[in-house]
Amino acid sequence: MPAWEEVITRARTIDDHYAMREPAQKYLFTLAMALPKGAVIVELGVANGKTAAILAMAAMEIDAEYIGIDVFPLGTSEVRRSLDTLGLHYTLLASHTHTAPWDASKKIDLLIIDAGHDEANVGPDCKIWLPRVKSGGIVVFDDWYEDPTKTHCHWAVGYYGRQATQGWIELDPKYTDARIFQKP
Ligand SMILES: C[S@@+](CC[C@H](N)C(=O)[O-])C[C@H]1O[C@@H](n2cnc3c(N)ncnc32)[C@H](O)[C@@H]1O
Repeated sequence: MPAWEEVITRARTIDDHYAMREPAQKYLFTLAMALPKGAVIVELGVANGKTAAILAMAAMEIDAEYIGIDVFPLGTSEVRRSLDTLGLHYTLLASHTHTAPWDASKKIDLLIIDAGHDEANVGPDCKIWLPRVKSGGIVVFDDWYEDPTKTHCHWAVGYYGRQATQGWIELDPKYTDARIFQKP
């Protein structure tokens, strides 16, 4: 397994604006490296591709597949250039997460929900994408916040995430604001 320091040093060549925090990225990398050969890793919300690079590095190591989905308001070429410079294999879908093409027979091992954090985005993301996770697969929500008053800007992540993962096993990374659940 490549050393985390080596992985994060390579990933730091990519702009981390909007990216998950490094402790969460480290936890994700560990999760990804433990997946079986042929695993499918999907990230909703790619931004500049820093987390994508980390997941794609893990995917290449274990012979898995990384797929990132984003509307990419500025286009994909800059993100592709960053990932190509690192010599990574990846698939980027320039699409809204609610309408991205998906082969219904393809089941996901690791799903990262980090696109739109408001009700209109994350609610449907949970409804559409969680059924695509295989039994034993994992979902990671970044920027999780549970707020019964619904005033925090990320309340919908915790609200819809909690609803959609009823009966799932919560894994506890302790040191990030990401929340991680395993499908029974
Ligand atoms: C927080 S950033 C993603 C950060 C990335 N996961 C990382 O760690 O580097 C959110 C991204 O989601 C995208 N986005 C927001 N809502 C979306 C939607 N419904 N469909 C596709 N992309 C969306 C935005 O364009 C933005 O790039």
